Amino acid sequence: MAKTFQSVELHYEKQGSGLPVVLLHGFPFDHRIWRAQIDALSRDYLVIAPDLRGHGQSPVPAGIYDMSQLAGDVAALLDELGIDQAVWVGHSMGGYVTMAALREADDHVTGAALVATQPLADTHDKRVQREESAKVAEQNGPTNIAHSMLGAIFSPKVEGSDPLAQRMYEIMVDTSPTGIAGALRGMAERPDSTDVLKNASVPVLVVAGEDDQIVEVDLAREMADMIPGARFELIPDAGHMPMVEQPEQLTQALRGFLESID
Ligand code: MLT
Repeated sequence: MAKTFQSVELHYEKQGSGLPVVLLHGFPFDHRIWRAQIDALSRDYLVIAPDLRGHGQSPVPAGIYDMSQLAGDVAALLDELGIDQAVWVGHSMGGYVTMAALREADDHVTGAALVATQPLADTHDKRVQREESAKVAEQNGPTNIAHSMLGAIFSPKVEGSDPLAQRMYEIMVDTSPTGIAGALRGMAERPDSTDVLKNASVPVLVVAGEDDQIVEVDLAREMADMIPGARFELIPDAGHMPMVEQPEQLTQALRGFLESID
């Protein structure tokens, strides 16, 4: 039976008009990672970029953030805005949220773009590691997580001293330790979404960064292969953050997908 959750009112940015497109950031970021896509896509589409609960300026309730609960918050936001359906663009954890929406709130989804994400549940070791990281965040704040993420999110072309790395670091250390712990524990509990994707009845785009060290390209490609009619785009010279490493290429990939739906 589907669990029921109390949604929270998300902070969001909204720009443009036309086909609604919701941009969901990964962990532990907020909507600011989508700056280039918000500005470019809002020329032709209604772009909504929320901060997921526990992130950015959205409420930070205590507890475990089930991916369905995060999807429910986004569905409630769309309802509040009078939007029946949107194309959900999910980056990494935002992709897990998009898959949860396909599982439990697919009446809100007209299409799904899965960016630098994958459908498998965590292994036992990964769950243990997430719990350790959650405790570190609760005890010491966000800096340890932000440092370790910084070492893994970019293609080798982005040096630690790059202003881009600094910007991403600043977003990560802005994230509340309670939000970080809630998201880590929620990701650890998420189910496998393979069947959801195999049965997807909306258009799907899969985007992978060629140098992604967090989601291997082969896994992203396998995911695209299992989804009926899915498009696959590989972004060269990008790691886990194509929206900031190669913003124009990612925008182009999204634009092509949105044009095919609109
Ligand atoms: C993310 O970027 O959202 C995370 O790396 C996803 C994860 O830890 O599984």
